[in-house]
Amino acid sequence: MLNIILLGPPGAGKGTQAARLQATRGMIQLSTGDMLREARASGSPIGEKVKAIMDAGELVSDAIVTALIGERLDTCADRGSIFDGFPRTIAQAEALDHLLKQRGETLDSVVVMEVDDDALVERIAGRFACAYCGEGYHDLYKLPKVNGVCDRCGSAGFVRRKDDNEDVVRARLKAYHAQTEPLIDYYRRQGKVSTVDGMADISAVAKEIDQALTGQGAKGVKNRAKTPG
Ligand code: AP5
Ligand code: MG
Ligand code: ZN
Repeated sequence: MLNIILLGPPGAGKGTQAARLQATRGMIQLSTGDMLREARASGSPIGEKVKAIMDAGELVSDAIVTALIGERLDTCADRGSIFDGFPRTIAQAEALDHLLKQRGETLDSVVVMEVDDDALVERIAGRFACAYCGEGYHDLYKLPKVNGVCDRCGSAGFVRRKDDNEDVVRARLKAYHAQTEPLIDYYRRQGKVSTVDGMADISAVAKEIDQALTGQGAKGVKNRAKTPG
């Protein structure tokens, strides 16, 4: 059982690869972005509270996202978790260490997805998803096989995220560089970082991630001593 973090800027492909790992390895994807969007859609008090912050591309408070993760962590017991978009600050990383320790678990690997800032705007601007099952698509890189029909559930409704416009993407990138990037050193000091080229195509990135995770399966906690990059 593995607990891993996919770490990278907005549009790096965290969600794409987390969904694939969930499908192929039976691990559980824990995306704080998805949880926050669900909270908004349900009109809950937390949803109301985070609306303006998310639409501005800034980070929601550590307390809110840590509580969301804490609530979901038990669902991952025996399956392993893929943290997607969490942690995003040092305080969140420390909170995660604590939550895992309480459960007698460890963090096995942090996969850093490296992407050019310039490529991200194009990626994010082209992104859309099935309104019913959430399957992700892209205008240039991943269109439904039948035009206008979801590959996974066959429905015909699609949505685009509210924070996926150029101005907000810039704010999200700024938050990433200022608040999240320092986590790479935090985890490098623990010997947990593997770096993958997030600019490669989706299947090549998937292969690199699988290679990074190889040898971290059954025995679990052995981390690679060497970290490229
Ligand atoms: P969140 O939902 O986490 O958004 P994000 O980090 O900005 O990342 P994205 O979901 O936009 O990108 P992704 O890396 O998942 O890429 P994807 O796979 O979709 O957070 C949203 C907001 O919530 C934050 O701004 C913040 O306000 C709040 N929040 C969330 N977590 C928080 C936390 N922990 N603390 C505080 N606040 C928090 O890929 C993008 C597109 O590219 C897709 O169309 C995909 O098909 C395509 N694509 C993917 N890989 C490739 C590839 N290799 N080549 C070509 N195209 C590709
Ligand atoms: Mg995502
Ligand atoms: Zn669908």
